[in-house]
Amino acid sequence: MKIAILPGDGIGPEIVEQAVKVLNALGESFEMETAPVGGAGYEASGHPLPDSTLKLAQDADAILFGSVGDWKYDTLERSLRPEQAILGLRKNLNLFANLRPAILYPELAGASTLKPEVVSGLDILIIRELTGDIYFGQPRGVRICPDGPFKGQREGFDTMRYAEGEIRRIAHVAFQAAQKRDKRLTSVDKANVLETFQFWKDIVTDVHKEYPDVTLDHMYVDNAAMQLVRAPKKFDVLVTGNMFGDILSDAAAMLTGSIGMLPSASLDANNKGLYEPSHGSAPDIAGKGIANPLATILSAAMMLRYSLGKAEHADRIETAVKKVLAQGLRTPDIYEAGTIKVGTVEMGAAVVQALV
Ligand code: IPM
Ligand code: MG
Repeated sequence: MKIAILPGDGIGPEIVEQAVKVLNALGESFEMETAPVGGAGYEASGHPLPDSTLKLAQDADAILFGSVGDWKYDTLERSLRPEQAILGLRKNLNLFANLRPAILYPELAGASTLKPEVVSGLDILIIRELTGDIYFGQPRGVRICPDGPFKGQREGFDTMRYAEGEIRRIAHVAFQAAQKRDKRLTSVDKANVLETFQFWKDIVTDVHKEYPDVTLDHMYVDNAAMQLVRAPKKFDVLVTGNMFGDILSDAAAMLTGSIGMLPSASLDANNKGLYEPSHGSAPDIAGKGIANPLATILSAAMMLRYSLGKAEHADRIETAVKKVLAQGLRTPDIYEAGTIKVGTVEMGAAVVQALV
């Protein structure tokens, strides 16, 4: 089994190193090959997603991705910015299904900004469509406004769109995920205003006929944002489009108190996937050895489960992470009085130690 390792920028290399250490401690022989991506790709060959990196990702069975981005690339033209690497990988590899679990570990209940009773025991799954919507719709750009009170001025515009097949395939992923959990799915839309999302709602409703054991409800995105902070435990699985999913998944991440704990998977139709922490590259703490590697380590566990068919190793890693939290080990982002503050490398080593 071949794993492409794409550490990226900022804290990416430090946290990915810890996940690789954990993978190497499982007693399997994975073939791993590393390549630059994001700002590192731009430095190496003038493009955030170098051809050789894309080819490695295409040939691999799974991809472990760190994070991309740094302020110093903010002035580059859009096509050369680090973010284009992750968008390009998603699009080129057809990684249309983004799974973002938000789980609150009981030991970290105090880290949330919400009251413990609102979030303790939280276990929800956001499924975000990842290769369509306003993120990729054409046309887009800046043009001369054709009508209305601002006619003749420049205007920026993007295109929101979803093809029927795109909605159907993400709906199937979501219903099947719900079947493996509490069998409740909430489809998030903006059908009261947007044609795209009335269509989304109609198609999800149609796909539901194939999953009578799952309870489906529909919620407008603004209400979903409110319910996520009001009573997040009422949800089981949420499915939504690319743009709404981007926003809601950040909100859901914060319910758990630490975005440094949350893994994610981006899958194609054959469960080949890219696995990355939900957090970004955090350039402000890069190189200081204080970043939390647990989201990346848990992403490696998701990779074992979804793409490499090694659920037993995924369980081992997840159990080891729970164990180090129970031991009181905390990186600064989740540190509370009475716990033991450790750095990135120590946290990775502790997870390796805790593997059984
Ligand atoms: C995410 C990120 C990306 C997105 C950016 C970095 C392009 O915010 O994975 O949620 O908007 O999808
Ligand atoms: Mg985002």
